[in-house]
Amino acid sequence: MDHSNSSQEKTSTTMDVPAAEFRKALRELTGAVSVITVGNAEDRTGFVATSVSSFSTDPPSLILCINKTSSSRETLLKSGRFGVNFMKDQHADIADRFIGIGGIKGNDRYTGAEWITLPSGTQVLKEALASIECIVEETLDRHDHTIVIGKVESIRMCNNGKPLLWFQSTYYHIGAQLNKL
Ligand SMILES: Cc1cc2nc3c(=O)[nH]c(=O)nc-3n(C[C@H](O)[C@H](O)[C@H](O)COP(=O)(O)O)c2cc1C
Repeated sequence: MDHSNSSQEKTSTTMDVPAAEFRKALRELTGAVSVITVGNAEDRTGFVATSVSSFSTDPPSLILCINKTSSSRETLLKSGRFGVNFMKDQHADIADRFIGIGGIKGNDRYTGAEWITLPSGTQVLKEALASIECIVEETLDRHDHTIVIGKVESIRMCNNGKPLLWFQSTYYHIGAQLNKL
């Protein structure tokens, strides 16, 4: 059932909220853009994710969600490890490649940026704000995604920069700091 209060306000109360309406609401949720790197050497791929979230500090671990149709899913699950790269606002072009814009796949997503190979073989972006290397601790298949718990193996900090944000289906950079209350 829809309750339309004004042209701006609309409340859906049906049990089955249409997916399109859910997607529209999520456009209003700001996300930090991460590039997830999986595989190694020539057998590498990856994807952009805004589903990365801190999970636990003891032990340090995070979660992310990967679509079951993602071309990175098999490599991620097979290798059992992945890198999380927090992107800077100057990294929109790199992020575009990892979204797969223009049909770019696999190893070609890594073109045009500098990568560091960690001892495990995981690749991390040299200029990322921070890169976190994880091993897959647990996965949970739910609906159209797989929830992945990653146990943190190593951390690489770069610090000097600002994050790349995603809001209303486009990139943003961070605005002015608000005064603390
Ligand atoms: C802003 C943004 C955030 C995304 N977040 C996720 C995510 O958290 N998990 C996911 O599986 N795909 C996410 N995607 C989609 C992937 O980046 C990628 O476009 C999609 O998996 C298709 O990749 P493929 O060609 O490797 O299959 C996101 C895309 C965008 C534009």
